[in-house]
Amino acid sequence: MANVIINKETCIGCGLCVKDCSNGAIILEDKKAKVNLKLCNECSHCVAVCPQASVSMSDYDENEIIKYDKGRLNIAPDDFLYLLKFRRSVRQFKNKDIESDKLAGIIEAGRYSPTASNRQSNRFIIIKDKLDDVRNSAINTLYDMAVNTDYMKNQPVYRNLFIKMHEDYKNNKGDRLFFNAPAVMVITSENKSGFADIDAGIAASRMELQAVSSGLGVCYIGFLKSAITLNSDIKKLMDMGDNEEFILSFVLGYPDVKYQRTVNRKPADVRII
Ligand SMILES: Cc1cc2nc3c(=O)[nH]c(=O)nc-3n(C[C@H](O)[C@H](O)[C@H](O)COP(=O)(O)O)c2cc1C
Repeated sequence: MANVIINKETCIGCGLCVKDCSNGAIILEDKKAKVNLKLCNECSHCVAVCPQASVSMSDYDENEIIKYDKGRLNIAPDDFLYLLKFRRSVRQFKNKDIESDKLAGIIEAGRYSPTASNRQSNRFIIIKDKLDDVRNSAINTLYDMAVNTDYMKNQPVYRNLFIKMHEDYKNNKGDRLFFNAPAVMVITSENKSGFADIDAGIAASRMELQAVSSGLGVCYIGFLKSAITLNSDIKKLMDMGDNEEFILSFVLGYPDVKYQRTVNRKPADVRII
């Protein structure tokens, strides 16, 4: 557990950290901030809000903290929405590797996502070297399910898709699982709190947008989760521990497709009460 360190020399007792601490872990004593670590979840709002830079956290890298710069946060809402609307699930990729600085930016977007109680328990696996092994195993597993389970008899769309996926892959006619993307990003967790799925979903969504802003494209791959649910050997292929839960995955790479316009969506079902 990290220690919250208050510099008593520079603390002016303004109480902004007390006001912003969601757990009530900070009080003012003799006009100086004082932290009850037993209540602290390391969210670091006290670090962020302090006008004197009097608060720091042990066990964290102080050098990664960036100072507020209003100019850099000036993204027009219309431009942001434009980016969101032009994001598409990409299923055609160039045969081009992803630069390590871009991958690092995508991980950073995931790392900086909010998590329930600030647990920060998302883990990221980037499948590159083992991609062929994972793909092979997953496609075979989905095929087995399609042809050998009664359940799939009532799922003609997926049954046909998994059979075709297997056939095309075996005949070198294309990869309908990962679309020949150069990398697959997986988010896992050992967090049994019940919010692990939500934490991973939020992180993935931000990672996707970071990828888009870096010129990359993404497609979530729910079928990998289906395959892993049926065949836990794929978890081992990915070096996942027994207590580690696969939550979601997406492929990423440089798009080999250009979209000329946005798409339609159903009207939002909204209730204001
Ligand atoms: C949780 C989730 C799982 C998905 N799994 C797959 C998948 O396995 N294969 C695939 O081709 N697309 C998959 N998709 C992509 C959806 O089909 C896609 O988001 C939807 O058709 C809307 O298209 P758009 O993302 O371009 O707006 C998945 C999307 C989500 C959110």
